[in-house]
Amino acid sequence: MKKRDLLFAAICVVVVSFLIFLSIRGKKPKPTNLSIPEHQNIKDLTPRERCLDCHHPQTGINDVSKRIKSTHPEKWQDIKFSCIRCHKLQTAETK
Ligand code: HEC
Ligand code: HEC
Repeated sequence: MKKRDLLFAAICVVVVSFLIFLSIRGKKPKPTNLSIPEHQNIKDLTPRERCLDCHHPQTGINDVSKRIKSTHPEKWQDIKFSCIRCHKLQTAETK
């Protein structure tokens, strides 16, 4: 292989790594904060349908900014995967 080919390959690796880094950066699920009044009755076993009553992207609460956004990881659509596994319950005390 020529030296130039190697250099080209190295640049590709750097660029792709950088794009991957950008796509996962800042994607940290916020906790389900129990100090929010609407979250008061939420328990570990609360079904995801309850969350979707308020947070569904189309049919959620009026405040659109609190609904699931189009940038949300697609995993939320997996009906066997609880929201709480990413959005950990956070009690007022353990803040
Ligand atoms: C009765 C309606 C309601 C239900 C049910 C509900 N939420 Fe919420 N949720 C809200 C409201 C309203 C806010 C915004 C509160 C605020 O910003 O003050 C919120 C905020 C959040 C946030 C943080 C968003 C932010 O901007 O900080 C997450 C994460 C969240 N909820 C997840 C969940 C999960 C997971 C469930 C199910 C276990 C759930 N919610 C059930 C109404 C609800
Ligand atoms: C695979 C992990 C995962 C699952 C499962 C998941 N979420 Fe999220 N959620 C995230 C991440 C990561 C973000 C931040 C997305 C972003 O910054 O673009 C987020 C953001 C949110 C937000 C917006 C908060 C904000 O600050 O914008 C709400 C509301 C929310 N999720 C609700 C839910 C609900 C309701 C469910 C279940 C139906 C759910 N999520 C399932 C990882 C997850």
